[in-house]
Formats: sequence, structure tokens, C-alpha cells
Amino acid sequence: MSDILVKPARTVQGTFSVPGDKSISHRALILSAMAEGKSKITGLSDARDVASTRRCLENLGVKISSLKGGIVAVAGKGKYGFRAAKGPLDAGNSGSTIRLLSGVVAAQPFTTTITGDESLCRRPMRRIIEPLERMGAHIESSAYKAPLVIRGGALRSIDYASTIASAQVKSCILLAGLYANGTTRVTEPSPSRDHTERMLEAFGVKAHFSQSGAGVQGPATLQACDIDVPGDLSSASFFLVAASLLADSEITIEQVSVNPTRMGIYDALSAMGAMIQTSPAVTFQGEPRADLSVRSARLHSAALGGSMIPRIIDEIPVLAVAATQAQGTTVIRDAGELRLKESDRLTAICRNLQAMGANVRETKDGMIITGPTPLHGAEIESYDDHRIAMAFAIAGLIATGETLIKNGSCTEISFPGFFDLLDRIRHD
Ligand code: S3P
Repeated sequence: MSDILVKPARTVQGTFSVPGDKSISHRALILSAMAEGKSKITGLSDARDVASTRRCLENLGVKISSLKGGIVAVAGKGKYGFRAAKGPLDAGNSGSTIRLLSGVVAAQPFTTTITGDESLCRRPMRRIIEPLERMGAHIESSAYKAPLVIRGGALRSIDYASTIASAQVKSCILLAGLYANGTTRVTEPSPSRDHTERMLEAFGVKAHFSQSGAGVQGPATLQACDIDVPGDLSSASFFLVAASLLADSEITIEQVSVNPTRMGIYDALSAMGAMIQTSPAVTFQGEPRADLSVRSARLHSAALGGSMIPRIIDEIPVLAVAATQAQGTTVIRDAGELRLKESDRLTAICRNLQAMGANVRETKDGMIITGPTPLHGAEIESYDDHRIAMAFAIAGLIATGETLIKNGSCTEISFPGFFDLLDRIRHD
């Protein structure tokens, strides 16, 4: 745990790439492990969260090797080739790891305990426990929180109307549905990211998906497949905002995921007047990617709510920083899910923005920010939350004076090398 000091910058410049998409990386490891045959993954994220998924799968008996050129090979076990883990699976800080893997171990003929760090053990798991129990799994927990003791077994298909738009919930159920007889369907109030559905098709499984939800026909067999993971748009978003806010900036981020269910940051920033251009997208194994070029712009306020929220769920911290520099009042609503992330992100954002002098008011399900307001350096509480640490590193670039990010090194959870990259592209 180390604190990180951020000094103001004049501009950001350069062409660079960001680590592989974290959501796609988790799925690439899990689906490869479930498949028949050997899969190779290029561009796998080196984030600590993805390492947690890898370690859990290894504990379930999956052989995963790192080859030259950063390629990772997974010897697929087939859906039933896993062995009972030695001790509890440790998902660390990663919601995707615990929720997606729960869907897989719920169908195994053995009992698995899955847990994580202090933050993960505070997060809600009822959202996956309920549907998995309806499918026939037995899950013990205290107050629906990790550790979860999952007594796996034969599952039945369900039609599940989720009351929250969550790709982790949807993916958990779809993965479990691969083991059940018949069609398992999930509907959600507005579309969440669809990486699981796209990747299932790459592994030879027909997944039906649309704006309202997704379904799989079980039992289904996955065939090994090579995956090339595009850059993570959520990681890129910190630089999209930095380049928009700092004068004379011009950056290009190469080969980033432009999956439409993730493009809310592009839509929101563009609606605020940002100057972002995308190169023609190229699609590989169902996932489109493109280069994103951004230059400085004068931003204005926007209304962010409704079905936009799941599409910017991880980018709201940095969008809030952008809103402090936008002309007018930005209202963020319908974002109560942010209270259930690695930290209570609504409170974390508002307290830290206030510490830097922003005009912001926290509401039940969002915040109201009026700008533009100059920010001043402050001591920032990261709440050990990677996205809070990175969003406020960007705030530190545009502030006067120095900004100290407490436990800024928690950025390793999703973006190892974030501060090194920032140092490379900044000019003072
Ligand atoms: C993720 C889904 C989102 C997102 C998280 C990654 C995924 O969570 O916030 O960072 O990989 O499916 P929810 O499903 O809880 O919204």
C-alpha cells in the first residue's frame, strides 16, 4: 500500500495502448477452462483481478501457462473436468471473479467455498444466490455475503427477470445455464455489457441476445478458441478525460474495445463537447476494436441517467471529474449501484471532489455537479478503490498544487502501470 503524489500537468501527448480489457480477460480464462481443447489468449490483462480468476481456476485443477509474447495458454478441462479446490477459492477484490465462477462451481459435483478480500466480502451476493438456488444449487452464506459455500449439483434451466442491470449477474446465470437442460434466459431492466454472450459464440455456443436480455440452450459444449483481448476502454477513459481537459493535448489510444455496451463513456463525453474520433472498427471473435484519438475541448454539462448508467458504470468517477470543468450543471441519477462497488463510489467521489473545491452535491442515487470550478490539490482517500484512485489522479493533473492519493497503488487492481503511463505522456 503506497500513497502517490500527483503534480499538475500542462498537457498530455502521445500514442499508446492500455492493458487488455478486464471483463473480456476474465471471460477468456473461464470459457477456455470450460472448453474442450487448448485455447491461447493474446493481450490478457495483467490486472490483479484477472490474476485472481487465474488462481481460482488453477486451484480447480486447470493448467494455465504463460508463453512468449505475453500469450497465455489454457488447457481446457471440459465443463466437468474441474477438481474440488484445495481450500477456499480466493477472488481477492474481484466481483467478476466471484460472481462468474459461482455460476460454474454451482454445477460441479462437489462443494466449493469462494471468498475474497474485506471489500468483496461486503458486497451483495444475493443477486446471484437467488437465481442459482432457483436453478437447484445450495448456497450457504451469512447475510448473503461472501464467503459463499456452494454445494453444486445438477441444475435446471430458468427464465430469470433480473431487477438490476448487471453483466456479472447475467453472466453467472448464463454460465450455469450451460449445464442445465433447456433454455436459460435472463432479462434485465436495461442492457449490460454483453462480452459473455459474444465470447460464448466464439467458443461455438449459440447465445441468443438482444437489448432485453440473453439466453443459452443447455447442455452446451464449448470448443477451444483463440482470443485476442482488445484494450480496456474503462482504463482508456482516464486518458480520454485528461486529454479533453488539459490544453493543447492530443493523444491516440490504440486498439481499444468499442463494444457498443461499453461505449457510454464515448457517448457521454461527446455529448459534453469532447473531441473524440474513432478509426474504423475491426472485429475479432465478436469484439470490435478501434483507435481512439482525443484532443482538448471546452466541455459543457450533460444529463446522465437511465439506460446510459450500465454503459458508464465504471466510468462515472472520471466523468464526475470532467463535469467539474464543464459549463453548467451535470446531473447524474439512477446510479445507486455505485454504492455497491469496491467502495461506495457516490460518497467517495463527492467527498474527494469537495476536498478539491468542486461544487458537488451527493444525492441518493447520484450527484449534481456545477462547473466550471478550479480544483486545488488535496489529500484524496482512495478507499482502496482503483477507479477512485485513477479518477483523482486525473483531477490532480488539472488542479493547482499537489494531490496525494492515499493508497494510490490500488490501481494495480485493474491497471498495473497506470502511473508510469501517465508520467510518460504528461508534459509540465
Ligand atoms: C463487470 C460488470 C460490471 C462492472 C464491473 C465488471 C463484468 O459490474 O462494474 O467492473 O465484468 O461483468 P456489475 O455487473 O455489478 O454491474
